[in-house]
Amino acid sequence: MNDLDKLHKQACDKIKHAKTLQSLQELKAEILGKAGSFGQMLREVGKLPRDVRKTRGAELNQVKNAIESAFELANQALQNELVQQELARSRYDVTLPGRRTVWGAMHPLRLIELEAIHCLTALGFQVADGPQLEHDWYNFEALNIPENHPARDMHDTFFVAPRIVLRTHTSNVQIRTMVQQKPPVRIIAPGMVYRRDEVDPTHSPVFHQIEGLWVDDKVTFADMKGVLHRFISYLFKKEVRVRFRPSYFPFTEPSCEMDFGCVLCEGTLTTCRVCRGRGWLEIAGAGMVDPAVLESVGYDPEAVQGFAFGAGIERIAMLRFLIDDIRLFYDNDVRFLQQFRGQGF
Ligand code: DAH
Repeated sequence: MNDLDKLHKQACDKIKHAKTLQSLQELKAEILGKAGSFGQMLREVGKLPRDVRKTRGAELNQVKNAIESAFELANQALQNELVQQELARSRYDVTLPGRRTVWGAMHPLRLIELEAIHCLTALGFQVADGPQLEHDWYNFEALNIPENHPARDMHDTFFVAPRIVLRTHTSNVQIRTMVQQKPPVRIIAPGMVYRRDEVDPTHSPVFHQIEGLWVDDKVTFADMKGVLHRFISYLFKKEVRVRFRPSYFPFTEPSCEMDFGCVLCEGTLTTCRVCRGRGWLEIAGAGMVDPAVLESVGYDPEAVQGFAFGAGIERIAMLRFLIDDIRLFYDNDVRFLQQFRGQGF
């Protein structure tokens, strides 16, 4: 083994035993530095005869490179070791990819409800609330639906106690508000309602409505048409066509059903899956508040009049987003809900 091989071997042995980055650095200075044995050898090259100088110089360089690589490897190994020690100590693996934040989306029913509130409060309505567990008087009787009135058939009701029901509509809030407050009254009441319906693609025993009521001395049917036209145009983000068909509700006279032009085909498709070729979609019930209702809350029907309306939030949401099964709203499937990300407010 010549002196260079020896130096190489010794250097490698020492490098192997270096335990810290600092001792490694010191070792490097000692072995490859000017004062070390390698430096000495390098200096001696100059004194050699010309013919051997070149080969000796090349040999020295080779060994120097080899030793430097050994230092580099040892350096990396020590640094890795430090990272591992740090990881073990802090118990956090900083090299793991971060967890993605999954952004939620507003539920489509809430979204429609908020948009409805936004539109109608801008038209001067105030949001009112009422109980979901309701006395028969507020849910039926004061709304001109007496005990044996056939209109109660329209409301297959959950009776909780003899005269206590889960409200079948948000119309109870009309009564609740009027008994508490003198005219003028201009309120909307969004909320949950309950009916004994079997679950199917268009029915659910729990669903949502929004009610509107405006009572004052000069409120007319024309005001009602204007408010409802603006309301539906706002919700569907375009100027919709509307029509009012005569209908019947015990608490309004005259009563009507409001339709608007099919969102999908605008009446141009006889095979339309949304309007089934009819061109029109039912969207709300409405009418002029029946004098009997005004009387039941102590208002003077000769002095004030007004209109009321009620619409289903689910129905609006289904038409707006072209959803064909009401159950999707309640299934809590994130894949369904995420589709509404970025919609509305
Ligand atoms: N309460 C009715 C229902 O649940 C909806 C309704 C129709 C409300 C006409 C009203 C109205 O205020 O004037 O089917």
